[in-house]
Amino acid sequence: MTRRDYLQLVAAGAAATATTRTLIAAGGDADREKRMKWWHEARFGMFIHWGLYSVLGRHEWAMENEGIPVAEYEQLAKRFKPRPNAARDWARLAKAAGQKYMVMTTKHHEGFCNFDTKLTNYNAVKQGPGRDLVREYVEAARAEGLRVGFYYSLMDWHHPDGARCATDEAARRRFVEYTHGLIRELMTNYGKIDVLWYDVAWPLDAKGWESERMNEMVFQLQPEIIVNNRNKLEGDFATPEQRIQAEKRAWESCMTMNDSWGYQRADDDWKTPKTIVRNLITCSRDTGNYLLNIGPKADGSVPEESVRDLTSVGKWMGRNGKSIYETEVCQPRRSNFAGFTRKGNTLYMHVYFWPGETVALGGLQSKVKSAHLLATGAPVKFEQEKFRVRFTGLPAAAPDDPVTTIAIECDGEPKQDMDMVRKERPRGSV
Ligand code: GLC
Repeated sequence: MTRRDYLQLVAAGAAATATTRTLIAAGGDADREKRMKWWHEARFGMFIHWGLYSVLGRHEWAMENEGIPVAEYEQLAKRFKPRPNAARDWARLAKAAGQKYMVMTTKHHEGFCNFDTKLTNYNAVKQGPGRDLVREYVEAARAEGLRVGFYYSLMDWHHPDGARCATDEAARRRFVEYTHGLIRELMTNYGKIDVLWYDVAWPLDAKGWESERMNEMVFQLQPEIIVNNRNKLEGDFATPEQRIQAEKRAWESCMTMNDSWGYQRADDDWKTPKTIVRNLITCSRDTGNYLLNIGPKADGSVPEESVRDLTSVGKWMGRNGKSIYETEVCQPRRSNFAGFTRKGNTLYMHVYFWPGETVALGGLQSKVKSAHLLATGAPVKFEQEKFRVRFTGLPAAAPDDPVTTIAIECDGEPKQDMDMVRKERPRGSV
């Protein structure tokens, strides 16, 4: 069935499940594969949480968790005066970090629109910034050759119907009209958008939000876009949050660099570059994406810890990106000191805790043809036995930082069999 046939059927009132409707509206499985190709290859993206909460610097949930009344919170809109084109620095930073796409909050739970809209005056053009921050962001991302994503929170603490829509049908209709209208503007006014990242559907379900109609509109306006699952439909990908969880379908793990999405000046719980690289490797091993957040300050500047750590991750990616982008499902995973990714017949062994001159891997079934340090290309000697392969003659100290990657070329798809090691490794006598 073509998309046009489908839309005719829907117009004629045909019933279909939420999933088939959305999938067909998006063009079916083959179309999904095509739309998502760049995203699967990309592996690493930048999330940006920026809004009025950045003025407070006390986390993006401050309005709710501190019980701030709307009229009081609205005052922040006048004080939000970022310097022009701050997004250019974010885009340059993302590029330097090896990230291939960006996803920025167009509207977070606070309800403030970072973009120009005819539907509310609570927007960046009419308030403090005096200009369209989403447009600046879109242009900045494109200037660095990065794909453009829009985060959009369905939950809205500002709109008068944002809570009562759950119990008042007239309010629900108004609020759904408003929501679909804002999304329509976002999908219409900024050229080609690559990702739509819905968030928090409270207090409605998919039926209440009219999410099927929402996605149909989105795919009509942006036929190549991919959408996530947080408008209570399946969407194109799952969104495990603050954890890495492989799923049977496409997935993206979103994570903060400290413990807050929006700028939180007192949060000093920063992940190290090593943790970030390890997370990226784990996502990549299981063919998921890693969407890593920055929370710029109100003036648009990025906290220096984020700049420092992303820059250092980017240097590692510059030397080792080959083992992260476009990777395929990787079966080997057992080691006390390393993680793995795979592309074709190459196994990448990412050594987190360097053991010294010899690095051993148990249970590798494939025959090793050659090995080298990915960062430098220096060949690595090896000895392969039935139960293990040992890489030898290596430096005593880790040659790369924060993780050293050994590229291992095998004669077929690399597989590890720990059962074989357990059962067949010769035993001693009592
Ligand atoms: C949660 C939070 C929100 C954040 C989002 C990112 O849903 O409510 O503040 O934007 O996670 O995934």
